[in-house]
Amino acid sequence: MAQRPKVGAKAYHVMLAPGEAPRYMLLPGDPGRVPLIAKHWTEAREIAKNREFVTWVGVYKGVKIGATSTGIGSGSTAIAVEELLYAGADTFIRVGTTGALRREIKLGDLIIGTAAVRFDGASRWYAPPEYPAAAHWLVVKALIEAAESLGVRHHIGVVASTDSFYVGQERPGYGGFMPPWSKGLIDTLRSLRVLSFEMESATIFTLASIYGARAGGVYAAIANRETDEFAPEVGVEDAVRVANEAVRILAEYDRKGGAGP
Ligand code: URA
Repeated sequence: MAQRPKVGAKAYHVMLAPGEAPRYMLLPGDPGRVPLIAKHWTEAREIAKNREFVTWVGVYKGVKIGATSTGIGSGSTAIAVEELLYAGADTFIRVGTTGALRREIKLGDLIIGTAAVRFDGASRWYAPPEYPAAAHWLVVKALIEAAESLGVRHHIGVVASTDSFYVGQERPGYGGFMPPWSKGLIDTLRSLRVLSFEMESATIFTLASIYGARAGGVYAAIANRETDEFAPEVGVEDAVRVANEAVRILAEYDRKGGAGP
């Protein structure tokens, strides 16, 4: 079998060796969000930086924790999950932004994903389309408990992960381009009770399930596709607080011998 590319013992893209990633990893898309997540930690330090993949590690309320940026979309996200598993992680929480499909989801509200529609590209290389991209129930439970304990408004349900921010989310492409297969996508997803669009969770959930790891996601609604509102960064700090707190809760379950991967 072909070897996986490495630089010494370090995985080629995230540049981490076995043992360098903590068990609990938060996964924002944006490298700039990694230090914002880490500002809630003690002993926070950057340990790797290569392309879109920036990794910090630290301690949150006594629990070793890390964060790696995945970049946008499924290709780089699958690389991050593959290589973080190699580096020692087994529990992933995506911390991101999302475009809500329902009027009652206000800008700044959080969504906790229970599963993701697999409109990504990478997960197709791993499993047939019938295979679900499901979050791990214990991660979902920890995220809900964290949101409740912090008093943050949140919604729980299925999100849709696309590899295309524009036409793949029924937004006009350049010059108004809209292929016929994108027309009506939002209405279709709404009728299926899908809560929102984002771009990485289907990949993370699918790979985590296949590899016996655990994953979940919490997203700040920065857009509403029903009301056509958009406000970048609103709710992101709440998503970060909820994700960090969920790691503390998961670590407590794990210490008590709760359901592991
Ligand atoms: N992220 C997305 O993928 N879509 C949005 O509308 C907002 C954030």
